Amino acid sequence: MIRKILKWTGITLLTVILVLVLLVAVRQNLTFEAPYPNIKASTDSAVIARGKEIAFGPAHCADCHYNGNADSVFKLGQEPALSGGFVFALPLGNFYTRNLTSDKTTGIGRYTDGEIARTLRYGVRPNGTAALDFMPFHNMTDEDLTAVISFLRSTKPVHNEVPEHTVTMLGRVINAFLIKPVGPSEEVPKKVKRDTTASYGKYIACSVANCVGCHTNRDMMTGAAIGEPFAGGLKFEEPGIPVLTSPNINPNTPGSRMYGWSEQDFIKRIRMGKLISYSHMPWNSFKRMSDNDLKAVYNFLKTLPPSKTSSSSK
Ligand code: HEC
Ligand code: HEC
Repeated sequence: MIRKILKWTGITLLTVILVLVLLVAVRQNLTFEAPYPNIKASTDSAVIARGKEIAFGPAHCADCHYNGNADSVFKLGQEPALSGGFVFALPLGNFYTRNLTSDKTTGIGRYTDGEIARTLRYGVRPNGTAALDFMPFHNMTDEDLTAVISFLRSTKPVHNEVPEHTVTMLGRVINAFLIKPVGPSEEVPKKVKRDTTASYGKYIACSVANCVGCHTNRDMMTGAAIGEPFAGGLKFEEPGIPVLTSPNINPNTPGSRMYGWSEQDFIKRIRMGKLISYSHMPWNSFKRMSDNDLKAVYNFLKTLPPSKTSSSSK
């Protein structure tokens, strides 16, 4: 009797495992639908300049899409090529940033404006698969997206065939069932006024520079926010370098890193650039941000209610 039960449990288990393995296998290249934003790259030099300002400044594309230390290239007064190949080695696999130069065979020269825009806004790659949510630009305005894509089109082509991602078994299971494209959280405006208001500052801090992404504690497995926005507490752990925790940057919270900072103090600190050599913050990209953008970010942070958790201030 017991043997019979064991036998049938065994067979049922085996069947379940087999079905799962098959499902995981067939669900590796799931494709998704999303609209192509109505974005057209421009060759107007002012638009290209604006795109470059965003890409090499608040949006810090070079920090991920340059295969080296973008921070030190900027420090030398040079501009890194966005030719990709930088690898994020994660428990789910090795993920390589892509070649964003205008190259026609290995870069964005292969894609239409709509395909690039859809990747950034809706998280659906040109081939229809979901992009891992590394980039926070889902709510970027049509105007800024147009500027960024116009700038990418203007870059010198660099032929660099970036390897495909290699995904671990755990990554394959997660990919099969959990990875979905992430899109905008609200209706995306066509353009925003570049003034120093808190509302523009919020746009920069949340939809372009991703201050919120690093300065909010998150579940490392799912990436979901588990802490109060801007209260810090996210641990950056990387083999070979000391662990860093993002500080609380809510200026209204006693004990937080920015408590008591004036607008001047804040701008001065950003302009100083990187002080901790192994910091993950893209300091030298942010250093290039305009006074206007920095004032707006400061004014936005000043509108935050004091955080209840000030323990993550270190
Ligand atoms: C925090 C790191 C990070 C930043 C910052 C970043 N990217 Fe990416 N980007 C990635 C990663 C990782 C991928 C690969 C995602 C995937 O394949 O799932 C990627 C993929 C892309 C793709 C898809 C290309 C393809 O061939 O599939 C485009 C387009 C892109 N990035 C543009 C940009 C632009 C433009 C910026 C700046 C405005 C930017 N990225 C900033 C990490 C980043
Ligand atoms: C990729 C992750 C990341 C992003 C994006 C990021 N930060 Fe940070 N930030 C960190 C980490 C890690 C530290 C702690 C190490 C350090 O001080 O460099 C830090 C430190 C700081 C500090 C304290 C500096 C000091 O010397 O005490 C301030 C202020 C700050 N960030 C503001 C911002 C603002 C404003 C933005 C958006 C414009 C931003 N950060 C975006 C990761 C990030």
